[in-house]
Amino acid sequence: MSMEFGVIDSSWHRQDCDAAVLILNQEAESSQLNQTADERLDGLLAELTASGEWTGGNGDILVIHRPAEISARRLVLLGAGRRGDCDGARLRDRMVQVVRQFRGSEVERIAVAGWDALDSALSIQACAEGLVIGCYEPDEYKTRDRSRTKIGQALFCSDDPARTTELQEALNRGQILGEATNLARSLVNQPGNRVNPSRLAEKARSLAEKSDLQIEILDEPAMEDEGMGALLAVARGSAEPARMIVLKHFGAEDNGAPPVVLIGKGVTFDSGGLSLKTSQGMEEMKADKAGACAVLAAMKAVSQLRLRKNVVGILPAVENMPSGRAQRPGDVVRSMSGKTIEVLNTDAEGRLILADAIHFARGLNPACMVDIATLTGACVIALGHIRAGLFSNDDRLAGSFFKASERAGERFWRLPLDDEYRTLLDSHIADIKNVGKRAAGAVTAAKFLQEFVGDTPWCHIDMAGVDMFQEGGANRGPTGFGVRTMVELASLYPDS
Ligand code: BES
Ligand code: MN
Ligand code: ZN
Repeated sequence: MSMEFGVIDSSWHRQDCDAAVLILNQEAESSQLNQTADERLDGLLAELTASGEWTGGNGDILVIHRPAEISARRLVLLGAGRRGDCDGARLRDRMVQVVRQFRGSEVERIAVAGWDALDSALSIQACAEGLVIGCYEPDEYKTRDRSRTKIGQALFCSDDPARTTELQEALNRGQILGEATNLARSLVNQPGNRVNPSRLAEKARSLAEKSDLQIEILDEPAMEDEGMGALLAVARGSAEPARMIVLKHFGAEDNGAPPVVLIGKGVTFDSGGLSLKTSQGMEEMKADKAGACAVLAAMKAVSQLRLRKNVVGILPAVENMPSGRAQRPGDVVRSMSGKTIEVLNTDAEGRLILADAIHFARGLNPACMVDIATLTGACVIALGHIRAGLFSNDDRLAGSFFKASERAGERFWRLPLDDEYRTLLDSHIADIKNVGKRAAGAVTAAKFLQEFVGDTPWCHIDMAGVDMFQEGGANRGPTGFGVRTMVELASLYPDS
């Protein structure tokens, strides 16, 4: 069930709803909202501030039931910290918190005030995203003990009727991006026995049929005709056949205009192959398709937003398994580009399938390419679970990328691509080997991909550390990372 969003030009205290949510900052004196709230509450807010029970710190929450002078049944004071530190990401997180707070309760209709912390269109978009994202529950396979939110309507109070249309559009955009994020999360959550490459392709097809996206699915014989020897080498060890899924959005005036191409690693389960992982290392490897799921969800959003651009999504999908037919460490395979690869570690499979997907993408004459992948444990060591690694051969594209990431509230850190790192991949018997040593593992993986990129402006996202929420957060399971940044990038590139 999807949430309904609206803008109302009326004050928060007159809203007849289950909860009026006031986003308040730490600098209480300077805020008009704080003052009116304090007056309505007959000085209670000042009293709680004096007693130290309310500071407005980021994440603080205070629920006041049946407030006398207010139409809402509950008043929710939500701290967002210092005003100067309050950005879209913080608003988004606070809205997730509101939804989690009323999970399992009867709260259905809420009103929100004080959302206007920055350029307001982006503020309100971030709030809508947070409310939608907070609703996601990974309970599809639970037969009991489900607990969901009942919040179905959120009205945002505004005192500027001239901006209603603009704000409503920002809410709609936020809703689309929030829903796309949740779509990625629920796909990533699908276990390996439920979603294999052909099931992922079916899901992509049913999405395309319900939208204006064109779809083409390459099966193994078609990929053999294309010479995709690197991808097919990974697929050999699995009983599940591989797929290459291609989704196209034609939004530019000219269907032939160079597209923005998004490529997502779709390993539906990564056992490591014959270079088998440990049991612990395998536990979360159903999520090794997170890049592909992010691209699929981004394509859905691009289509719903009717972006006036051509955008293509490419999802190379395989399962990486050991078997009597599996590729062996030491094998040499021939990629679609013609370059030969010495496969010394079958667990470095993502770069093999991406090599062929990237070469395939070049045939589409792209304006730029972005690939996103849970590629290396080394990137998790480097950046932990806060930022994803970003690599780019083009400073202008990287600049656009960071603008997009700021709008999306997703964090990245740029890592290097110096040519000296490439020598770590020199092979004695083939053009390149698929692993270096331990040193700079995230960089050598990126250098491997770059080998297949050519001159096209390109970004590589290593999202290995940020695909799942860590224990203890309000949210659980997959993050849906990358969806919003990719959509924002497709919206603004190459203009800014
Ligand atoms: N899917 C893994 C990377 C990964 C590790 C993602 C941990 C999320 C959490 C990838 O296919 C892999 O196994 N990479 C190897 C590469 C190595 C063999 C060069 C790794 O990082 O250990
Ligand atoms: Mn692997
Ligand atoms: Zn992998």
